[in-house]
Amino acid sequence: MPSFERFRQTVQEIFGYKHVIPTHQGRAAERILFSVMCKKGDVVPNNTHFDTTRANVEFAGAEAVDLLVPEGKDPARSYPFKGNMDVAALEQLIDRIGARRIPLVMLTITNNSGGGQPVSLENMRAVRAVCQRHAIPLYLDACRFAENAYFIKLRERGYEHHTPRQIAQEIFSLGDGCTMSAKKDGLANIGGFLCTNNDSLAQQEENLLILTEGYPTYGGLAGRDLEAIAVGLREALEEDYLHYRIVSTAYLGRHIADQGVPIVQPPGGHAVYIDARAFLPNIPPEHFPGVALACELFLEAGIRSVEIGTLMFGQHAAMDLVRLAIPRRVYTQSHIDYVVEAILNVWQRREQISGLKLTYQAPFLRHFTAQLQPL
Ligand SMILES: Cc1ncc(COP(=O)(O)O)c(C=O)c1O
Repeated sequence: MPSFERFRQTVQEIFGYKHVIPTHQGRAAERILFSVMCKKGDVVPNNTHFDTTRANVEFAGAEAVDLLVPEGKDPARSYPFKGNMDVAALEQLIDRIGARRIPLVMLTITNNSGGGQPVSLENMRAVRAVCQRHAIPLYLDACRFAENAYFIKLRERGYEHHTPRQIAQEIFSLGDGCTMSAKKDGLANIGGFLCTNNDSLAQQEENLLILTEGYPTYGGLAGRDLEAIAVGLREALEEDYLHYRIVSTAYLGRHIADQGVPIVQPPGGHAVYIDARAFLPNIPPEHFPGVALACELFLEAGIRSVEIGTLMFGQHAAMDLVRLAIPRRVYTQSHIDYVVEAILNVWQRREQISGLKLTYQAPFLRHFTAQLQPL
């Protein structure tokens, strides 16, 4: 109980929401949120749904719609807030299908499936205004909220002198709730949470929580995990940490991009994303250029990356990317130099790399267990 109190107090100080529901990780928060808020025929807009987010929306019978600004879909184009939602597209969607079919709008900060790119406060306010006009709740997928806050400090006029914590508080004040994976900007090994200001939703969510996760004072987590998250959320907002994080990710991006490797520009907060369609232009999306490249990086040097593209999202894939996510506080510069060297070796022999064909797929989240063969 004291661990839960410390956890709840920290979350409330930063996020400001009335109800804080612990879960074992982010996707459990998503499943509970969409089970309670969505029904068949509903539509959930997001800048870009992450894979588990899309799958949980669809599992609840609703449709997941990505409404990213056009700048965000062009890997080579540098733009400070490539995670922004296309506000005009959101309004058109509401006009077309009606607000009644949209139980909530989500914004993913930073936008993991779209290159780890931030959303500006200006864009969040504009989305908020549309939501308010139509009485639609706005939820944040907050996994990398601290990195997003730091990008706002670096890139958005008027926020240079704000602390990341102040910016985070302003971000969350625009929402009605959030989902969170504490394995990201909670700096924890496991955990997550779901927040809302709505009493009736919270009650339904806690009832579902008890069914599969645990009691609302632990949600499947051990006391030490709750304590770790309470500390991690604070540390993730420290400017020294955020500076080191953003600069070391950019170091990797710069060193491969300087040698011609096509990446999503500018580099994201937690990861560098290689543009696999541009890296392997001879492999069409249906032959999974991102997976082919991820396999080559593993064979070359044991580098574990992940495809974010046609295998993950099928017809919804706007790009074929390979994400090089950088674990926090793990690697030194020489590790990253090794990764740079390996990527450049693969870049040299890119014309010999062939595509893949799918031999097994599960009915949802197929990329987790898919089997493929070289063509
Ligand atoms: C943006 C985003 N949302 C949701 C999740 C799901 O979180 P978890 O892996 O804790 O279930 C992730 C995980 O990577 C994520 O990046």
